[in-house]
Amino acid sequence: MISNDAKIGVIGAGTMGTGIAQVAATQGHHVFLYDAYPQQLEKSKAGLESILARQVEKERMTQKEVDGILNRINFVDNITGFGECGFVIEAIVEDLDIKKDTFARLEGIVSKDCVLASNTSSLSVAAISSALKKPERFLGVHFFNPAPLMKLVEIIPGIATDKQVFESTKTFIKSWDKITVSGKDTPGFIVNRVARPFYGEALRIYEEGIADAATIDWAMKEIGGFRMGPFELMDLIGHDVNYEVTSTVFEAFYYDPRFKPSFAQKRMVEAGWLGRKSGRGFYNYNDDTKNPEPTKDKQLGQKIFNRILTMLINEACDAVFMNIASVEDVDLAMQNGVNYPKGLLQWADEIGLKNVLDRMTALQVEYREDRYRPNPLLKKMVADGKSFYEE
Ligand code: NAI
Repeated sequence: MISNDAKIGVIGAGTMGTGIAQVAATQGHHVFLYDAYPQQLEKSKAGLESILARQVEKERMTQKEVDGILNRINFVDNITGFGECGFVIEAIVEDLDIKKDTFARLEGIVSKDCVLASNTSSLSVAAISSALKKPERFLGVHFFNPAPLMKLVEIIPGIATDKQVFESTKTFIKSWDKITVSGKDTPGFIVNRVARPFYGEALRIYEEGIADAATIDWAMKEIGGFRMGPFELMDLIGHDVNYEVTSTVFEAFYYDPRFKPSFAQKRMVEAGWLGRKSGRGFYNYNDDTKNPEPTKDKQLGQKIFNRILTMLINEACDAVFMNIASVEDVDLAMQNGVNYPKGLLQWADEIGLKNVLDRMTALQVEYREDRYRPNPLLKKMVADGKSFYEE
């Protein structure tokens, strides 16, 4: 059990580590935030101070609360203090060897009951745990960016994780005012797996020349109710990052064509058009006059939205079919990890599973590609006249 007043260790003071430290300190925990690079610690501290100062300006927090949070975070350049921690989470560079080396060193310092977690997005929990003498106390605890704002945390037990460690970590993270879901230790866990078609199918529609980026974004926002269109979102995430995740998932799934990356995105990465951060992606962020207006054709928009949503629902069905997560957790994950306007399986029920299957089958008939194969669970549920959320 992780005690309610446990001290928390965070390794890596980058985007995620700093955010997780803020969450833990806001919940009243004493936090050790470690980074191998002193300049990163300074950057992390300055960034946090400025984020919290803004909270005071906006009257969302008092100066006293902010001082409390900052006083509870110890920015440290070594991990010797981690012996006092009840829970340690790692958020360093996404490199298996470096993570393994870090955990092997850490295990020699922490107490025997300390729970160890990784915030990895794309490495397997099993692979990281192989560095530990006691892999039973290790699991994946996957926050979303920005950690203080995003409610979702995926809790991923590895094959060696002790059931009690999993349960108590889940309860503990929930007590941080987070929504937890649990998923199997498979590529992309829940969100990064189920969300692939949001980008992949949008890119495919774009590559086929059915519509331009602005029109596809318009369709997904105006007709679908998504907060951001896929191209705006990829520009925000960065094409280097998004392409890397797609390629990793594609390889990890033994080159399943459902996850095939796109040439259009690869070219953007090669050209250095990484999105917002480089001033240029699918949109031009230096000169807005160069950005095309969407073609606001309702019929075309509906067709685009139906196709992307159908592919997303098919992927959500696969996550349930392959026992990656429960129906409820898949829906919670997409609503709270990537702000989808509705749970995909709830959406499927509302559209009617037969209609979803018909749309999927039409794509398969048109393209004759394995990418468009309807999920067996969807087919079975239609044949049995079932829905995901029965009355
Ligand atoms: P980042 O690059 O912002 O931060 C990584 C930090 O780790 C840097 O401050 C770096 O100095 C430090 N570091 C590198 N090697 C280290 C070592 N050996 N020991 C101690 N510190 C070391 O990276 P970010 O984006 O925060 O990602 C961290 C982890 O979280 C990765 O595993 C990533 O896959 C995962 N993640 C990232 C998300 C995101 O949207 N950025 C979302 C969810 C998970």
